[in-house]
Amino acid sequence: MPDELRTIQVTVNGTKYDRQVRCRKLLSDFIREDLRLVGTHVGCEHGICGACTVLFNGQTIRSCLMFAVQADGAEITTVEGLARGGQLHPLQEAFWENHGVQCGYCTPGFLLTALELLQRNPNPTEEEVRIGIAGNICRCTGYQHIIESVLAAAAKMGAKTV
Ligand code: FES
Ligand code: FES
Repeated sequence: MPDELRTIQVTVNGTKYDRQVRCRKLLSDFIREDLRLVGTHVGCEHGICGACTVLFNGQTIRSCLMFAVQADGAEITTVEGLARGGQLHPLQEAFWENHGVQCGYCTPGFLLTALELLQRNPNPTEEEVRIGIAGNICRCTGYQHIIESVLAAAAKMGAKTV
């Protein structure tokens, strides 16, 4: 099948884009190469590591498992969409303050996974955080600081005190 060009419209971090894309272009590559939003990382490229996680119409997806043409009409949030007006999102602050980041390669995926988790469950237990982030792989931190960061973010976002 020829790799045809198609025109898609997507809204990413509140900005509308009209772009021509090849039918076989992955959404992760479209975000990084066409939109130059390189905060979305690519690790395994087959749905295992979670580094490429973005919010797609409010739900986390692995952008390496979708074609860009499938995003036509969608609203997407990448890590670049978290900070507002130069102010880090509370999740980003919590990862910073609680050493939830080492090399940072996995971090964008964890942030968006954690955001969805806290939107669904603003007051998670440690066990619920562990389960919520279980689909994301980190090679550096041993996960404990990431879990503490998510719990601290929940507190910052006003759901509870820690
Ligand atoms: S790069 Fe998409 S899940 Fe690993
Ligand atoms: S901080 Fe390095 S892979 Fe997670």
